Formats: sequence, structure tokens, C-alpha cells
Amino acid sequence: MSVIHPSGAAITAEPTDLVPAEPAAPPSPAGSGCPLRLHGSTPGRSITAEGHLLRQYGDAPAVELPGGVRARVVVSHRLAQSLSADSEGVSRDANLHWPGFADGTRQVEGVIAAWTATASRNALNSYGENHRRLRAPIAAALTKRRVEAMTPDIEAIVEEALDHLAGGPDVADLVPGFALRIPHQVIVRLLGMPADLMAPFYAAAAGLFDTSATAEEMAASMERVALVLEQLVALRRASPADDLVSDLIRAADEADDPLTDAELRDQLMLVIIAGTETTVHAIGNLLVHLLTHPAQRDLVVRGEVPLEDALEESLRLQPPAASVPLRFAVRDLTDAESGESFHQGEEILILLSAAGTDPAVHDQPDVFDVRRPTARRHLAFGHGEHFCPGAVLARREIAIAAARFLNHFPSARLATAPEELTLTESFISNGHQAIPVQLRGRRRDEVSGRGGE
Ligand code: HEM
Repeated sequence: MSVIHPSGAAITAEPTDLVPAEPAAPPSPAGSGCPLRLHGSTPGRSITAEGHLLRQYGDAPAVELPGGVRARVVVSHRLAQSLSADSEGVSRDANLHWPGFADGTRQVEGVIAAWTATASRNALNSYGENHRRLRAPIAAALTKRRVEAMTPDIEAIVEEALDHLAGGPDVADLVPGFALRIPHQVIVRLLGMPADLMAPFYAAAAGLFDTSATAEEMAASMERVALVLEQLVALRRASPADDLVSDLIRAADEADDPLTDAELRDQLMLVIIAGTETTVHAIGNLLVHLLTHPAQRDLVVRGEVPLEDALEESLRLQPPAASVPLRFAVRDLTDAESGESFHQGEEILILLSAAGTDPAVHDQPDVFDVRRPTARRHLAFGHGEHFCPGAVLARREIAIAAARFLNHFPSARLATAPEELTLTESFISNGHQAIPVQLRGRRRDEVSGRGGE
């Protein structure tokens, strides 16, 4: 599966390559060559395992990313948190803070080009006052109140997805058959898409989530979605309703420096993209963890451990976005505690999956444990000024989806050995390419009388 970015490009990570040039190479001091390359996650080796490998080289080793971009990959929870919180010293805006990017003297290709192409234009890739201006309407539209109001819709969408599964064969792939259907439809309801725009939106949006699409096809889908979004903004300007687009327009108009319609469209596009694949993987990852740990699933089903605890533990262990490229040092920085220094303009990639499995924070970090006392100390939704504004909505979607799935299919089990599940080959998107599940019939541990892990 690939990650899709607001730029319109599909990002398919190359097969991995996390290769120490010298087996025992010391951490690379800033400014020197890169001893390591990170091109994706190797089939059979998770991005978490790659994080552990990188950790041997320090808190922020220098790594070569696809396209030859050199970045400091942050693998320590503490340093990741501290850099994310430094909204003045660390920026996501390549136009402003990546030397050579804006004037084109730096050639950037592939995955990193796709992730930096929207610099200064949407909330994710902007800095300072511009970031606050672009983000404020999104945050104002994604309130707890809206999530509460949408909950009956989310429940109905999940029930519909379960009916779809129940009406199909006994063995189903939970990715297209269940997980993907939920955020996709939630976004449509969230946006308040009217009936006459629904068909063109679905047709265009389906292209956005077609992971086999070429970069050109993806760009064309992006344009078609943008056209529908422009129509939607025009419609809601003329007749506001109780939906995210109307809220966004209202908040954008009330700002001191109101957002243009093109800016509104770009923020909507960001919401659609940021809110979809991440949530698909979050639902899939949680279900895989519970299906492969039947004793822990039973604790959750019996209500001895809240489902929300299992959800946080799953986000910690396998954050759906292993990283969200890219950040840049605005000036020379030194982290007093670790001694790590970053020079002005230096590229920084915060590896959220490594932060979640940092042994300095979590005992036995690779173990899935719904009773883990530190489960909530993760950065799966980021930290600081760019913290995910969709976190409340996402948590609600994932919790409803997982709880109702477990209730509906109490004997569901993986239809393949856990080690045969294929992970996304990416250091960005972190989930399963397919999750084949036997929906009905007795569980293996019930048949053998074992309730083990
Ligand atoms: C489990 C699901 C999700 C995960 C794991 C996730 C994770 C993230 C992460 C890691 C960031 C970047 C934070 C940073 O750089 O510090 C982010 C930003 C963002 N997310 Fe989410 N997200 C999820 C769901 C959603 C949903 C449902 C929406 C909206 C409907 C959404 C909208 C956004 C937006 C607009 C941003 C940019 C915020 C900014 O830069 O100020 N996300 N998300």
C-alpha cells in the first residue's frame, strides 16, 4: 500500500535498505557522510525493527532517505517530543527553512519531493503565523462537539460495514472489506457532501485511495477532488449548514486575515488525506494486535480492560504514521541532554514508531500489553503545534469500529499465520497490506482449550 500526500503524488516506499556502511560504524556526526540508508521497511522486517537498529547509532543518527536526501532521524522519545515542541526552532516549511528548496537550486525527488511540495500552502507544511492561520479553522471545525454530534453517524457507518462483511464470504480481507470503508465514509459525512456532489466526489476520491495508481493518475484524481471541493465551498458559502465545511468557512472568514477559497480547498484536501489512510491502518493494527493476543482480547471483551487502553497500546507499538516528513532546523540547535546538535537548515525526520518503542520509556517495548502503564506515552498523533487536530475523531472511529467488530464476530481469527501478514513497505505508512480473517467458527485457542497469547 502507498501513502498519498496532499501534493497528489502516491508515495510507495522502495524495498528497504537500512544498511550500515560499516557494520560497527559510530554515529555520524552532523555534517559528515551518512552511514545508514532508510528507504522503507524490508519485507518481513517492521519499521519498528529498523528503529531499534538506528538506535544503536544514537538519538538522532544521520540517515540517507530516498532521493539521496540526508536527514537526522530522531529515534528517542524525549528528543522527538522536545523537537516537536520547539515551534520556533524547528519548522515543517521547506520554502522558508530548507536552503535551496524555494529557488530550485536543490533538486528533490520522489517521496520527499511529494511530502514537501505543499510547503507554505497547508497547515501541515507551514510555519509560525502562517501555520496558525491555516490550522485555526480546521481545529475550530474538528471540535469535541462535532465528534459527539457525528457519533451516531459513525456507528451507522460501522454497522453498515459489518453487514457488508457478514453478507460476504467466511474469509475476508479486513482492509478493503472493513477498515477502509469507515474513514472514507466518515469524511464524506464530516464534509456534509450534498447528494448531487456525492457521486462525483466518490468517483474522484476512489482514485485518491487507489494505491496502484501512477503518479499521473493520482494527480488527475487530486484535481478532480479539488474541483468538487471548490463546488462544495461555493455551495456552503451560499447556504451554510451544520458541517465541517461551513464551520471552516465561518472560522476562516472570522480570522483577521481571512483564508481564500483556494486556501480553504487546500485545507480540506489535507483533512481528507490526513484523516483517511492513517485511520484505516489504526483500525487494522488494533484488530491484528487483539486477534493475535486472544487472552488480551478476552480481557477487553469481558470489560476488564477498557478498549481505549488497547487502542492506545496499539498506537504506541504500531503508530499508523511511522513518520510524517519532514522538518528543518530554523537555526543551529543543541539538545543539552543528549548533546545532539542540528545545524541551520538540517533535515529532521521524527520516527514516531521508534519513539513509541523507546526502551528508556517503555519496559519490553516490543510487547503488546493492554495493561502497560506507559501505553499513553506515545507520539502517534504528533506533539506540539502540529499535533493532529483529528485525534478525537480518529479515536472515536477506531474504538467504535473495533468494539463492534469484536462483538459481531466473537470467534474471528486470522486466516493466516501472523508472521505471514504483509506490512506496508514504507517508513511513513505503517500498517498491513491485507488482513485475511476467518470471520466465523471456533477460535484455535478455544478448540485446544488454551487461552494463551
Ligand atoms: C489514527 C489516525 C490518525 C493518526 C495516527 C494521525 C496522525 C497525525 C500526525 C502524526 C500528524 C503530524 C503531527 C506532527 O507533525 O507533529 C497529523 C497531522 C494532522 N492530522 Fe492527523 N492523524 C490521524 C487522523 C486524522 C483525522 C481523522 C484527521 C481529520 C479528519 C486528521 C487531520 C490532520 C491534520 C489536518 C493535520 C495537520 C495539523 C497541523 O499541521 O497543524 N488526522 N496527524
